[in-house]
Amino acid sequence: VKSLKMRDLLRKKKERRKITVITAYDFIGAQVANSAMLDCILVGDSLANVVLGHARTNQIGMDEMLYHCKSVTRGNSRCFVIGDMPFGSYSTVDRAVQNAIRFVNEGGVAAVKIEGPMYEQIKAVSQLTPVVGHTGVLPQTAENFLARGKTAKDAQYLVEEAQALEAAGCCMIVLEKVCSEVAEEISRRLTIPTIGIGAGPHCDGQVLVWHDVLGLQSPGSLSLKFVRRFGDGWRQTAKAVEEYATAVERETFPHPQHNSFLMDPGERDAFI
Ligand code: KIV
Ligand code: NA
Repeated sequence: VKSLKMRDLLRKKKERRKITVITAYDFIGAQVANSAMLDCILVGDSLANVVLGHARTNQIGMDEMLYHCKSVTRGNSRCFVIGDMPFGSYSTVDRAVQNAIRFVNEGGVAAVKIEGPMYEQIKAVSQLTPVVGHTGVLPQTAENFLARGKTAKDAQYLVEEAQALEAAGCCMIVLEKVCSEVAEEISRRLTIPTIGIGAGPHCDGQVLVWHDVLGLQSPGSLSLKFVRRFGDGWRQTAKAVEEYATAVERETFPHPQHNSFLMDPGERDAFI
């Protein structure tokens, strides 16, 4: 299977067909995203939260991101895979270029994502590989996670930032927790696709975190307003694990006849 290219995603925007993006962090996740015919996989640094159990995304680095990118790209054939550059990995232009090259060469990704108005870094890296921008709420550095663009002033600021990200060379841009009207206006003004998360229905595509789509988060954890759970993953997974343990305790698994290997005829006597 030939993997999707930026021109395929641009064509979708032109034809007003929505671009589908999900995060994934491992081989199975990539295989499922491929089987479901998603356009893009984002190996997000949300890895830190949903897989590694950290409180914030700024607690992981290049080694962890690359380890998971490799796992994802081994399971991928069709999706456009984006590697999320972690906090600190693009703090200077040189660092950004060096680390973006590692994402491509070692991680096998098709593009990298950089949070915020890092125009010099984006200019330099986009000479080498496609760069996805990210504006609105920026989890790596945010002091709060309030929605952006509530006021005309903030809305104007976000529109200008999005335009500057396109001018700097971004091939696509994530809008996180941006008011719907503002995301709509940005999507209209930009040539490159916008991918929304909590940014309303007018973006050129949508992204959600794997564990949120599947409903894999533990029941006690609070779910964000913009998340919709499409599965009941925690309950189904917990049920399967419980049933397994119960079967072991009740000695119904392994079944003596059907789940075991037996020695060749006559060999047992020779052995004992
Ligand atoms: O890390 C991530 O999963 C992301 C998306 C939520 C956009 O950056
Ligand atoms: Na991220």
